[in-house]
This record gives sequence, C-alpha cells and structure tokens, in this order.
Amino acid sequence: MLANLVLDPTEDQFRIDPYPIYALLREHDPVHHNPQRGLWALSRYEDVQWALREWQQFSSVGGVELDESLFGQGDFIVMDPPDHDALRRLVSPHFQAKAMSNVLPLIERVTTESLLPLTSDEPFDAVTAFAQRIPAVTICAMLGLAEEQATWAVGEVNAMMTRHGSVVRSPQVLAARAALESTFITGVQERIAARSWSRTATPQTSDIMTDLAQAVSIGELTMADIPGLCLTLIAAGTETTAGLISGVLHGLATGLITSDDLLGTDQQVRLDALDEYLRFDAPIQWLGRTTTEDVHRHGRTIPAGSKVLLLYGSANRDPRRFTDPDALNFDRPAGRSMTFGDGIHFCLGRILARIEAQVALTAILQRWTTFQLAGQPRRFPSTFLRTYEYLPLRCN
Ligand code: HEM
Repeated sequence: MLANLVLDPTEDQFRIDPYPIYALLREHDPVHHNPQRGLWALSRYEDVQWALREWQQFSSVGGVELDESLFGQGDFIVMDPPDHDALRRLVSPHFQAKAMSNVLPLIERVTTESLLPLTSDEPFDAVTAFAQRIPAVTICAMLGLAEEQATWAVGEVNAMMTRHGSVVRSPQVLAARAALESTFITGVQERIAARSWSRTATPQTSDIMTDLAQAVSIGELTMADIPGLCLTLIAAGTETTAGLISGVLHGLATGLITSDDLLGTDQQVRLDALDEYLRFDAPIQWLGRTTTEDVHRHGRTIPAGSKVLLLYGSANRDPRRFTDPDALNFDRPAGRSMTFGDGIHFCLGRILARIEAQVALTAILQRWTTFQLAGQPRRFPSTFLRTYEYLPLRCN
C-alpha cells in the first residue's frame, strides 16, 4: 500500500485523467479504501469481473453511483434478482441483434438529419448537434416519444445526472423529474386506453411504451415502475454512446485517431475499432456495488454494507489482461473489455450503441476528411461518466 494514495472520483484531477491513479492502485493497492469518502475500490480486471459476477455479495440495491439513484422504482440497474430480471426481460427484445434491423433506418435518418444543418468550416458543438443527438433521438423514438420531446427529455435527464458527488435535490431537478414522470405515465395510459398492441405484433415492431402498457394491463408491471424504467433507458442510452462518438471525434480532431484507423475495406467504421476505443477510454469509468457480507480479497476485508467502486476504466488498462494496455492499438487482437460491464447487469444496449456509433461516424467520415478543434472542449460534469458536454469542431 502507498501512504498517500487516495482515490476520490469527485476531484477534478480524476475527471481530467484517471489513468495514472488507476496504475498505482492496480500495482500497490488493489483493494483500496478511502475512509473519508466512505468508499472502497477494485481496480484489477480479474477483481472487477469477479465482483460483477458475484451479485449476491455485491448488490446493486442502494445505488451504483456515489449517491442514491434519482430515477426511483423501475430503475432495474439498481435492483438485484429476481426483481431485476423480470424488468430486464420485459424490455430486452428491443435491444437484441434481431431487433436492430427495425432500428437501423431510424439511426440512419437521425444521422442524416443531424448532419444536414452543419456547414463545412463553420464551427459547431459536436455534442449537441451530433454525438448526443443521435443516441438521444433514437432511444426516445424507440420508447415512443415524439422527436420534439427528445431534446427536452435528454436535457432533464442530464440535469438529474449532473451531480458533482453531492446529492442535488434542487427544486428544478425534482420538477424536471415530475414532468418527465407524467409524460411517461400519460404515454402508457394512452396506449392502454387505445389498446394499441396487437396479438401479431412482435415486441421489436412496436415501441417500448406499448409493450410496457401491455405488461401493465396483464399485471406483469405496475404503473409505478414506468417512470423509473423509462428514465433509466434514456439515461443509460444517451450520454454513454455520446461519450463514444464524441471521444472518437475528439481523437480525430487531435490526431490521436486517423480515418484509416477506423475504416474497413467497405469504407464503414469497423466495430472492432470502436471496441478498441471503448477499451482505451470507457464512457462509464466505474459503477458501484454494496457488499451484503464481509468480503475477503488480496488479504483485506471489505466489511458488509460498504460501497465498492468497480473501476471498469482501470480494468481495461490492466497489463495482466491486455498487452501494452496504454496504447490505442486498432489492430489489437479481440479481447473483451469491461466497458459494458459483466454478469447480470451486462449492458443491454451494447449492440445498439455500437451500431449508432458506426452509422454516425461512417457518415461524418464520408462527409469530411479534416477535423479540428474550434475551441476548448468541456468534460461532462460527472464522477463516473467520461464524455464531453461541449466539443467545438470545425470540419471540411
Ligand atoms: C458506449 C455506450 C455504452 C456503454 C459504455 C454502456 C455501459 C454500460 C455498463 C458498464 C453497464 C453495466 C451497469 C452495471 O454494471 O451496473 C450498462 C448497463 C446497461 N446499459 Fe449500457 N452502455 C452503453 C450504451 C447503452 C445504450 C445505447 C443503451 C440503451 C438503452 C444502454 C442500456 C443499458 C441498460 C438498460 C443497462 C442496465 C442493464 C441491467 O441492469 O441489467 N446502454 N451499460
């Protein structure tokens, strides 16, 4: 253990560059304790994977962030089985590979529309205009929200996620939550009233709210679960993918990445190139669990009831798992990173996220060959999300 080694994800330095402290933790303090913040942290790949798979010992109930979840009942990210499994099962058909053929035209349309107003050599914010807009409009349309509602919904969900380590239950955030809740409840009520589902429709061909309405009407779900479930899907599906798209754009603008690194022989962005970027700089750097009993690892005991951060971003740079892990190597042999988690909470939107980024980045690389920063980018204010809230670009 090193005397002065302290992990505090609320610190600016962590947001700027968490990788140096990860290296020290993996090497010297793999079961780290920060008593001031009341948290523990696992940093090695093997340990993060182990904790994610041992959900009986590492519970998600009680929240996966530093603060409790603001999304409330229905947020299955913060549930354990059996409740978690029942809710996940309800929405998962929409995210499976075979459902993607229905979503692809939507992603392509949103991408084309997002690029349309952008002009060569004119600076634009690549986050709001592109990287965030594409996943946001897509997940909101999959839910069944109108496009005008998407921008509003994502703005409010972001306000709920923008917490610098301390719980912000400001009147504005609570009002936004109430407004969103009633939008989802009304949407589901309207579908129940219209009985808009049919026996022949498969889950993938209807919107998610229609399936939720059907589940409520047959007693598989309660109305009280609806807002939290919908908020979770928007939150999980937007800033994460925005982090991937904006991270790659930032890389193109700063020379870290070239178009040749990304494009395959068919001139499409390669999914395995995206996977390497996701390993190198994960949009979700960590999420937490709470121990349900005393847990022993590397000679230390984490007491029952402790908050443990599982450092996905550090696991992805573990030299025990990846050769030369700090290098962004697009020819690296495939190896599963921790970017999408593991175990029962393994990312539901993994296939969707990679397709969204593939379509978006292929389209922008077809349109432009030169990418430059047109100002100072700003990181999204979060303790666990590694993305941008502002990325000014000039392209031609
Ligand atoms: C690059 C983009 C993405 C990244 C890096 C990412 C990452 C993750 C991670 C690390 C988890 C595990 C949570 C945990 O361990 O507690 C997760 C879960 C989840 N993700 Fe993603 N995600 C991405 C995109 C998406 C998209 C587009 C959606 C679509 C709605 C989505 C929906 C979900 C949901 C619903 C869960 C919870 C699964 C469960 O608790 O069973 N994600 N994601």
